[in-house]
Amino acid sequence: MTDKEIKYTQLLKEAAALLDGESDLIANMANLAALIHETMGFWWTGFYIVRADKDGTEQLVLGPFQGPIACTRIAFGRGVCGASWQRRETVVVPDVEKFPGHIACSSESRSEIVVPVFNGNKVSAVLDIDSQYLNTFDETDARYLEQIVKLLN
Ligand code: SME
Repeated sequence: MTDKEIKYTQLLKEAAALLDGESDLIANMANLAALIHETMGFWWTGFYIVRADKDGTEQLVLGPFQGPIACTRIAFGRGVCGASWQRRETVVVPDVEKFPGHIACSSESRSEIVVPVFNGNKVSAVLDIDSQYLNTFDETDARYLEQIVKLLN
């Protein structure tokens, strides 16, 4: 196992213990964001939740997060978060400047990973993590973070 895998294995265990016995989604998202952020030392870690407008149009709306202030609403297919929602899969971006349509909430963010959260067959939220460094995220992050967000179900 790599150092990163060892860290994530421990994180997954802690996350399972942290969420055990609590069913409130917002409380669990808040604690998960804090645990991931603190353990891994990321720049920004948080959730965007799929919510319907008054007219029924769905958007991603900012949920529990750790880090600097962020954009509040993201449309379907927009930016990395909207792309993950649309594609229904994890999106790893080694260099945000090379991702067409990337939404820059902060000029400090250099690389990013977005993991969809499923409620049954529907994407109900995304976990967005930003790094101040290029090439922070890879398949290992994707694999473990996908397991971690499953704890929200
Ligand atoms: N960069 C994201 C927007 C959210 S913030 O970085 C917190 C995107 O392109 O979807």
